[in-house]
Amino acid sequence: MVSPALVSSLLLASCLVRAQSSTAAPRASSTAAAASQFTLPASVDEGATLLPNVYDPTAPDAQVHCPGYTASNVKTSTSGVTAHLTLAGTACNVYGTDVQDLDLLVEYQTNARLHVSIRPSHVTSQNESWYLLSTDYVPAPNQENGQTTTSDLTFSWENTSESGFGFNVTRNGTGEVLFSTTGTKLVFENQFIELVTHQEEKYNLYGLGEVIHGLRLGNNLTRTIYAADVGDPIDYNLYGSHPFYLQTKYFEVGDHNRTTLVTEPLDTSNATSNYTSLSHGVYLRNAHGMEVLLRATNVTWRTLGGSLDLYFFSGPTQPDVTQQYLNVIGEPALQNYWGFGFHQCRWGYQNWSVTEDVVNNYERFAIPLEVIWNDIDYMNHYRDFDNDPIRFNYSTGSAFLKRLHDRGQHYIPIIDSAIYVPNPANASDAYQTFNDGNDTNSFLLNPDGSLYIGDVWPGLTSFPDWSTAAAHTWWKNQLVAWHQKLPVDGAWIDMSEVSSFCVGSCGSGNISLNPVHPPFKLPGEPGNVIYDYPEGFNLTNATEAASAASASQSQAEATVTASSTTASGLTSSSTSYLRTTPTPGQRNVNHPPYVLNNVQGDLAVHAVSPNATHHNGIQEYDVHNLFGHQILQATYAALVAAIPGKRPFLIGRSTFVGSGTVAGHWGGDNMSKFYYMYFSIPQALSFSLFGIPMFGVDTCGFNGNSDEELCNRWMQLSAFFPFYRNHNTLSANSQEAYVWSSVIDATKTAMNVRFQLLPYLYTLFYNAHTKGDTVMRALAWEFPNDPTLADADRQFFLGPSILVTPVLTQGATAVNGVFPGLVEGTAVYYDWYNKTPVSVPSTKNTTIAAPLGHIPVYIRGGVVLATQQMALTTRAARNTSWSLIVAPGVDGRASGSLYLDDGESLAPNATKLVTFSAAMGSLNVTVSGNYTGQDLPLANLTILGVPQPPPSNIVRINGQTVANSTYNTASKTLFISGLEHVLGGKVWSANWTLS
Ligand SMILES: *[C@@H]1O[C@H](CO)[C@@H](O)[C@H](O)[C@H]1NC(C)=O
Ligand SMILES: *[C@@H]1O[C@H](CO)[C@@H](O)[C@H](O)[C@H]1NC(C)=O
Repeated sequence: MVSPALVSSLLLASCLVRAQSSTAAPRASSTAAAASQFTLPASVDEGATLLPNVYDPTAPDAQVHCPGYTASNVKTSTSGVTAHLTLAGTACNVYGTDVQDLDLLVEYQTNARLHVSIRPSHVTSQNESWYLLSTDYVPAPNQENGQTTTSDLTFSWENTSESGFGFNVTRNGTGEVLFSTTGTKLVFENQFIELVTHQEEKYNLYGLGEVIHGLRLGNNLTRTIYAADVGDPIDYNLYGSHPFYLQTKYFEVGDHNRTTLVTEPLDTSNATSNYTSLSHGVYLRNAHGMEVLLRATNVTWRTLGGSLDLYFFSGPTQPDVTQQYLNVIGEPALQNYWGFGFHQCRWGYQNWSVTEDVVNNYERFAIPLEVIWNDIDYMNHYRDFDNDPIRFNYSTGSAFLKRLHDRGQHYIPIIDSAIYVPNPANASDAYQTFNDGNDTNSFLLNPDGSLYIGDVWPGLTSFPDWSTAAAHTWWKNQLVAWHQKLPVDGAWIDMSEVSSFCVGSCGSGNISLNPVHPPFKLPGEPGNVIYDYPEGFNLTNATEAASAASASQSQAEATVTASSTTASGLTSSSTSYLRTTPTPGQRNVNHPPYVLNNVQGDLAVHAVSPNATHHNGIQEYDVHNLFGHQILQATYAALVAAIPGKRPFLIGRSTFVGSGTVAGHWGGDNMSKFYYMYFSIPQALSFSLFGIPMFGVDTCGFNGNSDEELCNRWMQLSAFFPFYRNHNTLSANSQEAYVWSSVIDATKTAMNVRFQLLPYLYTLFYNAHTKGDTVMRALAWEFPNDPTLADADRQFFLGPSILVTPVLTQGATAVNGVFPGLVEGTAVYYDWYNKTPVSVPSTKNTTIAAPLGHIPVYIRGGVVLATQQMALTTRAARNTSWSLIVAPGVDGRASGSLYLDDGESLAPNATKLVTFSAAMGSLNVTVSGNYTGQDLPLANLTILGVPQPPPSNIVRINGQTVANSTYNTASKTLFISGLEHVLGGKVWSANWTLS
């Protein structure tokens, strides 16, 4: 017998030979395998030691060394510009091989959209030697037919003697320069493209995700865009890739030339000036690993390949920019109505009966629950499309799902991205899903054409190759066949960056070790106890804190003992970095000369290696950021096949430009901390900009233990996010909404508001789907004339009309917030709970009482809201009677709309659109469309902000007296009830007028 340590050394050595050029000596595993299962040594996931370029003082500056380009053969027409760009001197080859000749194409595509493309002249179509992002995955719209000469944007260019070709994009009319590379050098090499743009100081940029950061990105940040499986570190690259930014510039009103930017965050409360703003958008259509360097007076784009495929959107407001961007990348999918119910999940529901107990507990405490989820626990040894035959068998599961469906509830399982490679030496390890994929050439390869084998939860795994049609068909067939055994209601795609726990094809030659244990301990395994708690835990949870402290003390002692026995095996770190230099005409995809500031260091760490090869010859290096998007596209199609005619419910971890057309996103592996609750707001608002409005985070926090106070606040906050799910890691303390009594009450309070607003939320998504409207909105986007809101991200609007001001800090009983426009007299607000108008404060910043269990929510005047009531499921809620809330704006008017359909059909055969308009004591309701499923009674109507009792309390509908109104002096509301039988008990069956 070979000892585990020796085997691991052999394994490691073989991995290193295959995958990477690292010369690190193999190191034995410091921990023996837990059971008989072979545990990979931690060193399998260690890459070369690299110094990110942005931190490397010896790194050459391409702007110093490179010659730039010269434009020639420039042809300008009414629809755009074409030109030839030639290297303006000796090649610099700083981080790759310079391209001698480039083609410039400029198109005025629509009035609001300008396209600038710069690509190598020798690349005429898609080929292996130079990857250009395929339109199969990400659209690239052309000039619109009949588009003529007018444009809000102007392209201009010049050749300067110092730096060669440069260009500006200017807002036509104002002359405002939106984007300027003039005076900087274009660098275009096979592994490095650089574009430096000038910026005014203290610019306001938003987007460039995915990142955990405040909403406004600031002027000293390196935004690395390279999909990574990592638990929500602050300011690093993360799961998704969105090379798009929104920029907003504030000006003083009267500054017609827009010459003086307002850059300081100002307090306008006593200012004499009035302000205005202009916004625009920039999208770099490129999927390579890239960096955007935000610095004091410039923004630099650097990518590791592809082309410069830039789209400029003229705005001039955020809603305009978002609509213009989504018009290019695709509007978000219409969601199921039930998707807006409450979702409960955790890693650690070990079997069907534990899972069903959770459902029953929600019912026992009368807390609405729409969807119950399982994490990887349900799988047979973590294999996709294969349930554990004992703990999660199909017959018990199908019966459970039938009980759920009968009650109007749903079930969603996780599906991982990697496919287990069965051990050929063990017949009982057979796995048909793998065989089917392997037989159809559906998996990624090594450069030599053998199977690429990494490591994920099940052990050594292969990975789908989405470049082949066969992989899509295979994936669909797997999901459809599995769905026949277990009728799941949607899918949750995880690990899609795509994650692999070892560097390179570590499984090649080693699959007889399968199933291997990951090269790290799982939560709850011996020596890996969770003892992390939210801020202030010991202040508010004294008894629990005392026992947690003693547990963590003994844990710490155990860790010290364990590490001192293995410390002798560790080498000290005298750092020497791997640096590579370009080889003419060749690429080093594993270690590109330009080193990204990747959170995992080496590009191959915790991810499929860049040299993994697709069946069409493309290397993973060129399409790494697309995997998460492609698996969502494949799963969407598979769900349509499995559940014909229904809208797929789909949530993904890794996303790319356009993923919103098929899926939503959750914020990934956050922590049970108040500051992560705060970060959920800027993360959500950023995903509004990226066209993925179906967003929410792991409520109460994923990693670490949650506690009563944090979970209380968070269950309330997430009730105002489109995707509302509580999720928890393995072996952390339970955190379902019923675990603490105060959380039960707080949850029901917030859910009560959410359920009333479901018709409003659904209509917002309809408008997002059909028009590119924004669902969750930053204060700055709704009040573009207020520079003080430029970085406001601790409050938000849900749609235009609901302002949410949550408590985001531990121990607080009040929260500071603003009511945008209230002091200025341009907006009015009503407290959601008592419907009372908010009185105008003396200062812009106000303090709002918010004891535990209360989340301040306000209606912004000017809206008519159609609401329904809370029920245990959305199916039941859809059948409750309607209420109307008329909340007049500063001008005394209110309007609104309501979209209705069956809530689940992919192409509903009947829809209904209701519009409301109220003024001067009357309300007009206009109905169009023929969906009748929610033509239910109108229970009551509340008119807010009525300063004094009306002269008559008689209420007429279509001229007929139907009821009396009641005036409430304290809240200044007029309440009309007893309407159940008017309009034949069917409030949306025809137009009507109330006076
Ligand atoms: C720029 O704006 C001016 C005035 O608004 C207009 O006459 C001109 O045609 C515009 N240019 C383009 C290229 O659209
Ligand atoms: C671009 O704008 C700058 C001012 O920001 C100006 O100095 C330069 O001449 C412009 N270049 C072109 C080509 O329009």
